[in-house]
Amino acid sequence: MADKSTKGLADVVAASTALSDIDGKAGRLFYRGYDIHDLAGRATFEEVAHLLQRGRLPDRAELAAYSESLAAGREPGPLAAANIAEIAGKQTPMEALRSLVSLAAADDPDKDSTAHEANLRKAARLTAQQPVLVARYHAARTGGSVPDADPELSIAGNFLLQVTGRRPEPRQVEIFDECLVLHADHTMNASTFAARVCAATLSDMHSAIVAAIGTLKGPLHGGANEQVMKTLESIPADGVAQAVRERLAAGEKIMGFGHRVYKTEDPRATHLRRMSAELAEAAGDDTYYRMSKEMEEVVFEAKGLYPNVDFYAASVYHYLGIPTDLFTPVFSISRMSGWTAHVIEQHADNRLIRPDSEYIGETDQKWKPIDER
Ligand code: ACO
Repeated sequence: MADKSTKGLADVVAASTALSDIDGKAGRLFYRGYDIHDLAGRATFEEVAHLLQRGRLPDRAELAAYSESLAAGREPGPLAAANIAEIAGKQTPMEALRSLVSLAAADDPDKDSTAHEANLRKAARLTAQQPVLVARYHAARTGGSVPDADPELSIAGNFLLQVTGRRPEPRQVEIFDECLVLHADHTMNASTFAARVCAATLSDMHSAIVAAIGTLKGPLHGGANEQVMKTLESIPADGVAQAVRERLAAGEKIMGFGHRVYKTEDPRATHLRRMSAELAEAAGDDTYYRMSKEMEEVVFEAKGLYPNVDFYAASVYHYLGIPTDLFTPVFSISRMSGWTAHVIEQHADNRLIRPDSEYIGETDQKWKPIDER
C-alpha cells in the first residue's frame, strides 16, 4: 500500500519547472524568482502572463506587442461562438468552459502545431479568450448582452465590464487585476499537473487546457472558492463559531482552509484578506468580511489550519459583483496564464509522464466461463 506520506503524490517531485516555486514552511511564493509580495499590487496581470509565458517581465515595447496580440486573439472562433447559447442552457460554468475551449481549438490557426512559436501564439489567444467566454456564457444564460471590450481597459477591467455590464471603478479594476496576478501560477497543483501529463504525450495545448479545466473544477481545488461563498451565505452572521464547530464535529471539511504545501499562511491569502476588508468598507457592509475573519479564527483554534487562496477570494469576488458560480471560472481566467506556460515548458523539454502504480488487488485468479461464475 502507498503509505500516507506518498498517497496523493505528496512531496513527490513530478516535474522540473522554472515558472514558480513555493516555500511551504515560510509561506512564500515566487514566479520566475520574483516574490509574489513584490508583484502583487505592482505588476499587472498582462505583465505576469508575459513573465510566465515568455520568460521575463516585459519592457514597454514587449508589453505593447503582447497586449496587441491579446486584443487580436480575444474573439473566440466561430464554432465556440455559435455554440455558447446552447451550452449555456445545458452546462454549468466550468463544464461550459471545458466544452468551449475544446470547440475554440477547431478555429485556432495554430491548432495542428506544438512548435514553440505556435504555442506562444496559442497561449496568448487562450489567455485573451477565457474572460470573454465566461462573460458571453453568463450573458447567454441571463438573456443579457456583452458590452464591447474597451481598448483602454486591461483584461481585468474588460472582464468586470463584460460580466457586470457596468463600467468598473478604477480601484475595482486594480483589485481584480491583483487577484489575477495572485492566482496565475502555483507549481505542480492538480490542474497544472493534469495539463502537463496531457502535454507530455505531445498532445496539443487546447487538449491540455481542457484537462486542466476539468481538474480545476473539483471542490478540493478551484471549486473551493464557490463553496466558501455558499458556506458564508448558509450560516447566520452571528452564528459563525457554532456553525463551524458543528461542521467540524460532523467530520466535514471547511472549504477554503488547509493546503498540501503551505504549513503556514498562504501568502496569497494575506493580500486577499486585505482586499476583502477594503471592499467591505467601500460597500458599507462588512458582513462577509467579518464572518470570514471569525471563521478563520475558529478554524485555526479548532484545527490549526490557515486559509488558502480560495477563502478570501470568495468575499472579494462577491464584493466586486461577480456571480458566485463564476468564481471558479474566474480562477481559470488567471490560471490560464500559468497552465499555458507549463505546456510551453513541457513541450520544450519533453518526456512522457508515466508513473508506476502499486498493485493491491487479488492474485492467482482462475478463469471460469461465464455460466460458472
Ligand atoms: N477542514 C477541516 N479539516 C481539514 C481541512 C479543512 N479544510 N483540510 C484538511 N483537513 C484535515 C483533514 O481532515 C485531515 O485530518 P485527519 O488527518 O485527521 O484525517 C488533515 O487535515 C489532512 O488533510 P488532507 O485532506 O489529507 O490533506 P491534503 O494535503 O490531502 O489536502 C486540501 C489538502 C485538499 C487543500 C485540503 O486541505 C482540503 O480539502 N481543503 C478544503 C478544500 C479547499 O479549500 N481546497 C482549495 C485548496 S487551494 C487550491 O486548490 C487552489
